[in-house]
Amino acid sequence: MPRIFITGSTDGLGRAAAGALMGEGHDVVLHARTRERAAALSDLAPNAAGVVIGDLSSAAETRDLAGQVNRIGRMDAVIHNAGVCLEPSRATTADGHAKTLAVNTLAPYLLTALIRRPDRLIYLSSGLHHGGAGSLRDIDWTGRPWDAARAYSESKLHVTALALALTLARAWPDVLSNAVDPGWVPTKMGGPGATGDLQMGYRTQAWLAVSTDVAATVSGGYWYHRQRQAPASQARDPAFQDQLTDRLAALTGVALF
Ligand SMILES: NC(=O)c1ccc[n+]([C@@H]2O[C@H](COP(=O)([O-])OP(=O)(O)OC[C@H]3O[C@@H](n4cnc5c(N)ncnc54)[C@H](OP(=O)(O)O)[C@@H]3O)[C@@H](O)[C@H]2O)c1
Repeated sequence: MPRIFITGSTDGLGRAAAGALMGEGHDVVLHARTRERAAALSDLAPNAAGVVIGDLSSAAETRDLAGQVNRIGRMDAVIHNAGVCLEPSRATTADGHAKTLAVNTLAPYLLTALIRRPDRLIYLSSGLHHGGAGSLRDIDWTGRPWDAARAYSESKLHVTALALALTLARAWPDVLSNAVDPGWVPTKMGGPGATGDLQMGYRTQAWLAVSTDVAATVSGGYWYHRQRQAPASQARDPAFQDQLTDRLAALTGVALF
């Protein structure tokens, strides 16, 4: 049975995907931000392949988290799901980064670099990534006035570009790497007014993680409800992908390639 690591599995889409995959008999490694938040996993944890702890806004904790995952063993798939949205301020982290960048971009980048390479990688994007196109010059929001929606959109463009940068024609030809837009769904992040279907919101990433369907064993896709969609052109641009991975290597001190 495949072993899958899901970041941010205490709530929302991550927790729903974990429950569904475990219900199908898969080995799932769960993740909570803190030991206190791990209490939210008390129902799933006894049947999980492990529970790892770490706050993704901290580079040190994110590195430690990668170590915890590697000690459990090699994952067949990793779903980079954890995220924050609409932070009211830059909310500078202990490492000096904008929190949205740290959690949504730097953490998945670091985990991608530091976790033993799985067969499949899935990154939670958003339709809002289309609004994130532009320059990477002020990626960490040190010069611009804070714009929470723009910062979120940019972070989702980053992970979409990262997913596509790892694909067949590019750096890691042996890994299936995809990005997923779950739709606007009623989670803590999406809010009660969300019009999307929560179940449809987690089905695609769970399917991409484990299915042997020909349609699911592809790389370089941007998906919505198991259908491939066109991502923002910048996400597909090799020059932008290279600039992004260079910037993330400089910001984290860890080279991916
Ligand atoms: N919901 C939507 O409508 C929607 C739409 C498009 C894309 N997405 C994307 O889908 C993914 C999941 O969203 P969701 O709606 O399920 O959100 P959610 O209900 O708010 O859950 C987010 C998960 O990430 C964890 N997390 C947040 N910050 C963290 C940190 N610093 N360290 C460790 N874990 C952290 C949360 O932990 P706690 O439980 O401790 O807070 C929680 O487990 C996100 O990447 C989001 O951007 C969601």
